[in-house]
Amino acid sequence: MRPKILVSRKISDLAEEKIQKEFEVTLNPKDEPIPESDLIKIVNDYDGMISTGFDKITENFFNNLNGKLKIIAQVGVGYDNISIKSAKEKKIKVTNTPNVLNEAVAETTILLILAASRRIGEAYSLVKTDNWKNQKPDLTKFMIGNSVTGKTLGIIGMGRIGRMAAKSAKAFGMKIVYHNRNKLSDYQEDGAKYFSDIKSMLPECDFVSIHTPATSETKHILNASTINLLPKHAVVINTSRGSTINDDDLIDALENKKIYAAGLDVFNNEPNLDKRYLKLDNCFVLPHIGSATHETRLAMSMMAVDNIYCFFNKKPLISEVV
Ligand code: DGY
Repeated sequence: MRPKILVSRKISDLAEEKIQKEFEVTLNPKDEPIPESDLIKIVNDYDGMISTGFDKITENFFNNLNGKLKIIAQVGVGYDNISIKSAKEKKIKVTNTPNVLNEAVAETTILLILAASRRIGEAYSLVKTDNWKNQKPDLTKFMIGNSVTGKTLGIIGMGRIGRMAAKSAKAFGMKIVYHNRNKLSDYQEDGAKYFSDIKSMLPECDFVSIHTPATSETKHILNASTINLLPKHAVVINTSRGSTINDDDLIDALENKKIYAAGLDVFNNEPNLDKRYLKLDNCFVLPHIGSATHETRLAMSMMAVDNIYCFFNKKPLISEVV
């Protein structure tokens, strides 16, 4: 009998075709979110599951398993929606999709750097609401932002995505400084300056961009005491996870012009982000689209399928979390 696989949300067509060749698969073609309580009941009929960051795979989920489920292949590099501790205890494999989204997330980082520093949110809505014609085109005031070229970008978390963002930022002549648990090799640093202590790095940053996973160590890594170390013209960028930022403290800094701007793709409690962000002209916001390109989502979907294939064919997993 072929192993039974549940695909919790719509994934790329080619990946769905591929997995159906090998396994008995239940797809979710309408992409209906499966509530946590239903998922817990449904999943007990399956040997494997392809999940996304939208699924809540909590300790409660694992406690209700009947022993049939053996692997969860997440479409996403982040897996903070999965209780890894419980997966370990229940000896259920978890895989993710690293590397294939580095470029897409780096592109989003650059997009946010440019949008936040050049006031693109304000400029775009002026045109879209047909209010441009009502503006006084003052040469030194009208939609004047800050240049990006030659500025210093501080990267918090110099992993694969952080390094790709650094590489892209260099196209604008940006200088790179970084804070990471460990200093990288000269090759990986590629000229970037290392700070073991984030507090020493922040005063040097014109821009600071977060690229860490969501863990207890990185929770609120930007908070009042770290944000206050940034220069007044600094811009905060986040494409990692909302939990890395203390919303009250960032909103206070933006409202009271303690920093210049922020560009955010990720939030606490998505999609119900703190509404105060929406009122801020100096905050450019996106709906968690860091990896949202056709090419990248296909590669992520394929990697999840390949992990399932490897597992049931007793081959080494491509990207094992536990
Ligand atoms: C990830 O892969 O974790 C991304 O946030 C999904 O877009």
